[in-house]
Amino acid sequence: MKTAIIPVMGEQTLSQEIEKLRQEIHFHNYRYHVLDTPVISDYEYDGLMNRLRQLEADHPELVVPDSPTQRTGGMAAERFVKVRHPAPILSLSNAFDLQGVQAWYERILKLDQRVAGSGFVLEPKIDGLTVVLHYHQGVFSLGATRGDGVIGEDVTANLRTVRSIPLKIPVRPDGPTPPDTLVVRGEVFMAIRDFEALNARLQEAGERVYLNPRNTAAGSLRQLDPSMTATRKLQLLTYAVVSADGPIPNTQWGILEYLKALGFPVSDIAERVNTIEDVLEVGPAWLGRRDQLAFEADGVVIKLDDLDLSAQLGVVGKDPRGAIALKFPAREVTTRLNQIGVNVGRTGVLTPYAMLEAVEIGGVIVKQATLHNFDYIAEKDIRVGDRVLVKRAGDVIPYVIGPVAEIRTGEEVIYQPPQTCPACGQAVEHFPGEVAWYCVNTACPAQLVRNLEHFVSRGAMDINGLGIRIVEQLTASGKVHDVADLYTLAKDDLLSLEGFADKKADNLLNAIDISRRQTLPRVINALGIRGVGEVMALDLAAHYRDLDELSRATFEELNLIEGIGPNIAQAIVDWFARPANQQVLSKLRSAGVWPQGEIEQTTREQNGLPLDGLTFVVTGTLPSYSRDEIKELIRSQGGKVTDSVSKSTSYLVAGESAGSKLEKARKAGVPVLDEAGLMDLIQSRKS
Ligand code: IVH
Repeated sequence: MKTAIIPVMGEQTLSQEIEKLRQEIHFHNYRYHVLDTPVISDYEYDGLMNRLRQLEADHPELVVPDSPTQRTGGMAAERFVKVRHPAPILSLSNAFDLQGVQAWYERILKLDQRVAGSGFVLEPKIDGLTVVLHYHQGVFSLGATRGDGVIGEDVTANLRTVRSIPLKIPVRPDGPTPPDTLVVRGEVFMAIRDFEALNARLQEAGERVYLNPRNTAAGSLRQLDPSMTATRKLQLLTYAVVSADGPIPNTQWGILEYLKALGFPVSDIAERVNTIEDVLEVGPAWLGRRDQLAFEADGVVIKLDDLDLSAQLGVVGKDPRGAIALKFPAREVTTRLNQIGVNVGRTGVLTPYAMLEAVEIGGVIVKQATLHNFDYIAEKDIRVGDRVLVKRAGDVIPYVIGPVAEIRTGEEVIYQPPQTCPACGQAVEHFPGEVAWYCVNTACPAQLVRNLEHFVSRGAMDINGLGIRIVEQLTASGKVHDVADLYTLAKDDLLSLEGFADKKADNLLNAIDISRRQTLPRVINALGIRGVGEVMALDLAAHYRDLDELSRATFEELNLIEGIGPNIAQAIVDWFARPANQQVLSKLRSAGVWPQGEIEQTTREQNGLPLDGLTFVVTGTLPSYSRDEIKELIRSQGGKVTDSVSKSTSYLVAGESAGSKLEKARKAGVPVLDEAGLMDLIQSRKS
């Protein structure tokens, strides 16, 4: 990033530079807000914006209305319907330290002395995506993204899948009654843990991973298919009322309490203090709280508690004077990329990672960072020996943002992805439509360890007591060459390993023995075929009687099964075609690991609808569907709807003011679902 002092230039070159900066920033806004695939870091972006702001401040005569400084980034993507917000969705100005906060206070105190008596509210600045949620008569009717602050995108269908968004504001006897029209502002985000789990899954499946939780949340909200959004664990926290046609509290603290009382999720660490001295006193504790949050935050928002006063203070551009964001220090540093290493995953996916000159980022020493995949290295032109910009945010695994190309010495080496597996030396392969490269050798030692780990895991053969350490011992000692070898282990084999005594060996052999009786879906899952997990294994077991039948399935046949696309169909065919795998199968058969499926048990295969075979009764008022609509929905998903609760009722779907049917269901032990529960059920039976 260039931080050079602005050179004195002629008017012509200066306006040229300004124009170039604007073009660049427009481009990056588009990449970030519309395509969700930024090509520079926030840090670099801020650098460009700051430089433009500085140039414009020095030369106000060169400011034009369409300069990126005159609006806050983001524009509506074409594919969603546009929505005009009922009031401008404002942004925030930033302070980078406590002095900046003090200066903000003094500025607004000069404008209005009442600022001194207002009180302040501190809230986490969640690094997510602003959403504007409309409620009519208490029912969620429209949800939009921020867009350019005036016009956003209608993403209602996607937002409906976010569980913490109330579809209906419940009327509570002791709670407030919402006005007829209420528009609430909040932030949609993905918890760090959910983000990492999602990326781990995408990586295993050879798909492109997301850069950070914010991009993931943005990408998930902009999915055209809401059922895709539903699979992403998005969350919401609200913090403002944008408009209302009835009385609402006139303090920020009051608004947070009001939203909470209406059933909206509100941050539980928000804090109210009386004076600016208090703000400055608690500020450092807020900065220190960053790593304890379940989500990524990029700062603390400090707001005047008195909202009338705040409104009177007005706005500067798009930033209200009555609030400021105290930003956390950037956790981006540069360091040298010494080497690129490659990990081999269970399914053989090769993942490159950066081996870095050790560097401290926010109190943590970082020596490794992810490089996502080989395309990423090429797209960013990351070379071995480069100084690279590395980011650590929250607890997210550090990642390499890109090279600092300006300071290359010429010694840097363009990276060539390996053509053979670093663990076994066999040629690597690439599948159409995927970014990942694979080692397809099932006997690869790195894969063997991961494969065994998966084979014995809970959702697969569930072999108790066989942890990673023992797996490593078994493979390193040459006692196990493939998963089937587990079944021919003798007690002496185990006793020769470090840490094994009589009892432990017996227990493990016993656990292995018990696993011979595992069901067909578990065994199919345990094989570790690329793209075939627990759910797909169930579908396969519903179509094939045993592993013999499955191994004879053709690509065409597999491709016809709901939920199995061409890539996975091909992966299954390929897996069974490989001689090493055939050998594993024949060893498993000899070991008695050869379960027979129960095809007739499942009715889902007949027409593949999620609610096939289930009978529902509907009662009460549901938040977003009428009774007839919900019945229609159940039928369209293959379910049967009857009028009264009986033994053959699979589920009662109950809304508000459900009466005798609910009683009856409870007595009869019939499970009860609310509207969201029904949607979850449909989703969970879809894949
Ligand atoms: S208040 C007038 N409060 O930060 C209201 N914003 O950089 C202005 N954000 O676009 C916003 N957490 O998306 C506010 N507790 C919070 C926030 C928050 C995250 C985001 C919001 C806004 C951006 C401004």
